[in-house]
Amino acid sequence: MNTPDVSRRNFLKNSSGLAAGLMAAGSSLAAMPARPEGAQYRGDYAAPKIDTVRVAMIGVGARGSGHTRRLANIEGTEIVAISDLYEDYVQRAKGYCDEVGKGERHTNVKLYHGEAHLWKKMLREVRPDMVIIATPWKDHAPMAIEAMEQGAHAFVEVPLGLTNQELWDIVDTSEKTGKHCMMMENVNYGRTELLYLNLCRKGMIGDLLHAEAAYIHELRFQMEEQDRGTGSWRTPHYAHRNGNLYPTHGLGPVAQYMNLGRGDDNFGTLVSYSSPAMGRALYAEKNYAADHKWNQLDYRGGDINTSIIKTTMGRTVMVQWDETSPRPYDRLNLIQGTKGAMASFPTRIALEGGVPGITENHHKWAQGDALEAFMAEHDHPLYKRMGELATRMGGHGGMDFLMAYRMVDCLRNGEPLDQNVYEGAFWSAVSELSETSVAQGGAPQAFPDFTRGNWKTTQPLGIVS
Ligand SMILES: NC(=O)c1ccc[n+]([C@@H]2O[C@H](COP(=O)([O-])OP(=O)(O)OC[C@H]3O[C@@H](n4cnc5c(N)ncnc54)[C@H](O)[C@@H]3O)[C@@H](O)[C@H]2O)c1
Repeated sequence: MNTPDVSRRNFLKNSSGLAAGLMAAGSSLAAMPARPEGAQYRGDYAAPKIDTVRVAMIGVGARGSGHTRRLANIEGTEIVAISDLYEDYVQRAKGYCDEVGKGERHTNVKLYHGEAHLWKKMLREVRPDMVIIATPWKDHAPMAIEAMEQGAHAFVEVPLGLTNQELWDIVDTSEKTGKHCMMMENVNYGRTELLYLNLCRKGMIGDLLHAEAAYIHELRFQMEEQDRGTGSWRTPHYAHRNGNLYPTHGLGPVAQYMNLGRGDDNFGTLVSYSSPAMGRALYAEKNYAADHKWNQLDYRGGDINTSIIKTTMGRTVMVQWDETSPRPYDRLNLIQGTKGAMASFPTRIALEGGVPGITENHHKWAQGDALEAFMAEHDHPLYKRMGELATRMGGHGGMDFLMAYRMVDCLRNGEPLDQNVYEGAFWSAVSELSETSVAQGGAPQAFPDFTRGNWKTTQPLGIVS
């Protein structure tokens, strides 16, 4: 496994001016509950190998149906059960299974639909190895916990849970049962994100100082989904909550560049502010009748939320969220080091002394076609090996396929997953912390240390091939 260029010791040595501040931030970590009896830390945990991974799906709407199609196509899986509230969704997902191997691979898929509790019956009857949870946010934690209690590894859509108490409950259950619980942060498998991880590990931009992460995606159109579908359950969240409701797509990749929660550094405190809440109410007023349910909501969630995280080492991460304002898609994906910077939308790199053969110094970004050869040279080995296949298999340009492939491959080989349960918890905790900070006028909030101090001995994510 490659070790990161920036070790905790070196960073502290090289930035002694920061040391006092780091200690202060570190000392303000939230108090942690005692580890339950029989529970074990799972930071680098590898579960016993599984030859053929028996997969059950909970929720096969917009996202879960794609997961079904991709997982059904990956060698070493068997889809054994599918559940959703709606029969047509379950049948659509089963259709993806039937298409694989001329109908000879997933031959006994049990179907559950019609009532909200049937996923529990499914877990008891089918005893899957892996459960994919792609349901509305409020169901993530209870479903993940029950899946682990029933003997399955849980793979959960983003965010992992809604409250920090739910995140603690997930961590405790994983530690107690020895079952993985991975939040499926697919963006960590994007070509650019894998490239930047690789370049950070090679020390290309020096010691890492600061990151900027975001989910800026105008999704007001989802309000068209009124009885079922994403907008039907997400819209009330926008009205009733004020903070960063969807932090993990931007934060997950930069947290892994910086090794947050893995040996070098950890999440310390967060401050957060929201802009006024205007866009959703305006959209509802313009597009729906006065007595429509979207015009009955009191939209209190600010359109744009900006949070800043201070790490225990004193580094900073700006995390933004906006699913309302008219503007092109962006995740920022900026990482600043002592020798250069990398950012996205568009993918661009600036290095002190220039990017070889492209720029002369750090005052200009290397980007566009000129950057392609440099990218091809430094692409992450996983992308070099599987990028073409992943692009063909699809799912956000291939990142979803690479993620699904790695999930299955790690289970089959008995290797630690690329994202441990604590990372899912830290990345998701930004929601509650930002809501509390906003409500308290931007007051700093300490991150719960979901690892109970064990992050210091957890291995950084390696460069897997
Ligand atoms: N990682 C990504 O790129 C990405 C993209 C989109 C959505 N998501 C996440 O995926 C999740 C699902 O979002 P979506 O857009 O697919 O929503 P959706 O509404 O299309 O799908 C959710 C499905 O869950 C089903 N469901 C609800 N309660 C259930 C129950 N008790 N038992 C079984 N099924 C139940 C619903 O019927 C629905 O089909 C969310 O957490 C969302 O944040 C992630």
